[in-house]
Amino acid sequence: MTATGALIQTPRLTLEPLRIAHAAACFEAFAQPSLYRYIEMPVPADEPELRRRFAGWIKGSGREGEGWGNWIAVERRSGKPAGWFQATLHSRHADIAYLVFGEFQRRGMAVEAVQALCGHLFAALPIDEIRAQTDARNDGSIRVAIGAGFVADREPVASTLHGDPTRDLVFRKRRA
Ligand SMILES: CC(C)(COP(=O)(O)OP(=O)(O)OC[C@H]1O[C@@H](n2cnc3c(N)ncnc32)[C@H](O)[C@@H]1OP(=O)(O)O)[C@@H](O)C(=O)NCCC(=O)NCCS
Repeated sequence: MTATGALIQTPRLTLEPLRIAHAAACFEAFAQPSLYRYIEMPVPADEPELRRRFAGWIKGSGREGEGWGNWIAVERRSGKPAGWFQATLHSRHADIAYLVFGEFQRRGMAVEAVQALCGHLFAALPIDEIRAQTDARNDGSIRVAIGAGFVADREPVASTLHGDPTRDLVFRKRRA
């Protein structure tokens, strides 16, 4: 089993490696515009578009030395998709991103999944550090990073969001 192909279990969630077939169950959740306020990704117009996006993520960047992992978190109790978790793997570090669907927010799901994802990546790969970069105004994302044991760099970095200049915070979690 590769690092990106593994099922990851948390107390309430199973993180399933992304399949194109997930698009059917996830489209409505991914189509909520409020999710995209601080992330640079278009709202999917329809299910075929989401399937094409998933196919691209599964294929990966093709860049030498870079791997992409994507997981749909399924709440075991209801069987419903609760969110999407992503990791970009480099030789000595990984970057992660996280998204929890509306009805599952504010229940500790993101922190629970990010902790398990980090545990999995540190166990499976020879990386020293996991990073998460978030818009400095994205309070929810910042709380998740802190809750999952990340520490922010002192200085924000310049970035852009939806065409406007903005500032991002870079969070890092070192191997224990
Ligand atoms: C950010 C996001 C992942 C949070 O998911 P979540 O499952 O609701 O987060 P949790 O329930 O694990 O909450 C963790 C902490 O964040 C706080 N929090 C969550 N959403 C918040 C918000 N919108 N504003 C302020 N605090 C928030 C929680 O109260 C909790 O605080 P605590 O540590 O003091 O207990 C979710 O709102 C989301 O997917 N947003 C859209 C996509 C996005 O911006 N992703 C981040 C890009 S890297």
